[in-house]
Amino acid sequence: MHVPSSGRGRRHGTSRSEPFDRWFRYPAGFASDYASLLLHQLRLPTAGLVVDPFTGSGVTGTAARRAGHSFFGVEAHPLIAELAALKLAAPPGDPSGLLSAAREFAERSATTKRHVDLSSEASLTLRSFDPATLHRLVSLRNVIRAQADHAWHSYLKWALLATLRDVASVRVGWPYQRPGTQRQPTFADPISRFLQRVTWMAEDLREIEERESRFLRSRVQQGDSRDDANWAEVGKGMAHGCVTSPPYLNNFDYADATRLELYFWGDVTSWSEMCSEVRSDMLTATTQQSSVGSARDARILLQDYGEVGVQISEIADQLQKERGNRPRGKEYDRVIPDYFVAIAQILRNLASVLSSGAPAVLLVGDSAPYGVYVDTPGLIAKLGAEQGFVLEQDVILRHRGQRWAGNTTRHDVQLSERFVLLRRN
Ligand SMILES: C[S@@+](CC[C@H](N)C(=O)[O-])C[C@H]1O[C@@H](n2cnc3c(N)ncnc32)[C@H](O)[C@@H]1O
Repeated sequence: MHVPSSGRGRRHGTSRSEPFDRWFRYPAGFASDYASLLLHQLRLPTAGLVVDPFTGSGVTGTAARRAGHSFFGVEAHPLIAELAALKLAAPPGDPSGLLSAAREFAERSATTKRHVDLSSEASLTLRSFDPATLHRLVSLRNVIRAQADHAWHSYLKWALLATLRDVASVRVGWPYQRPGTQRQPTFADPISRFLQRVTWMAEDLREIEERESRFLRSRVQQGDSRDDANWAEVGKGMAHGCVTSPPYLNNFDYADATRLELYFWGDVTSWSEMCSEVRSDMLTATTQQSSVGSARDARILLQDYGEVGVQISEIADQLQKERGNRPRGKEYDRVIPDYFVAIAQILRNLASVLSSGAPAVLLVGDSAPYGVYVDTPGLIAKLGAEQGFVLEQDVILRHRGQRWAGNTTRHDVQLSERFVLLRRN
């Protein structure tokens, strides 16, 4: 197939302007206009079923719906799974109701903002906003939180969560929040920004009203894609295609990246809760998630994967050596076996739900921790061959990580992001 290198303005992550993508910025791998192009090129059957084992904020899901397909996705991050499910749900009524509810809640919060109690707010929340903005945000959050049964509750919650980074007075860009570094807020007034966001949501919801078909279904399951129980709803061989972007081996932490929203809403109150509540279903892609025990178990499991298992073990051995050469080396050697065993298990589940001949597109980058090259896309393709797929295409979409080239402690490697097309046997 012809592989488009970009959509209308493809950047890494959700688009700021595409419908639904603009609800909340997430490091998505691709924007929905790009996913739409891919789905078109894959020539799936009309009203087919598209799946995504790493659903994230639901970019593939919204593109699939737009193309007239059903969708089933699994996402480990509870808050982000909620966002994807919301984008893909049928709205509870005419979207004008959302606008009226937003105005009403904003007005109510204006009357209570002087009396907000900030004593139980997380330190990150307290440090991220100037006092007036903080009062307005907390007051509006309290009003929305108190109305959990309201039909538009979740939409209002997400419009507010997406407003946080727009109005913060410290560095809160992706991927890391730096409450110690001041910046000028991108938008001064939190309430008008919140209402702007609600207006976009209402516009986007009208799009689905127009396209809604009673034959199509979109569903997001919160959980771990490794667990076959999370795929039980999709019958064996019932899905027609997959477009996905797995976590890269670049130490990016999806739980930590959403710390501001998690703490602000009160979903987590400590780092240990973050690990137990948010990270628990995620595969190991960062050194912070790694452990001696699971790396040892993964090493044993790798023996079932033939030559590619040996190759992955050898990479882990090299990384262990590199770690030993450093006083406080990071445990990349423990991440690698765990990561690839998880990917193999997910590919097995994917193979089970895809019909014979169905395509699975993966967008994924390679990496070079401590200068040891890890051909993540190539290794995934080889693991796929063990799970019932054949590699059809492996194309470089863009080069990245130029910084590595100038760093003398690392190899002079040009890292890239690749398009891998596997086909179910
Ligand atoms: C590159 S992002 C995918 C983003 C997605 N394309 C979107 O539209 O936002 C990878 C996602 O995989 C999720 N993830 C990691 N391990 C997982 C697992 N075992 N099962 C399901 N999802 C997982 C992460 O939480 C993250 O949201």
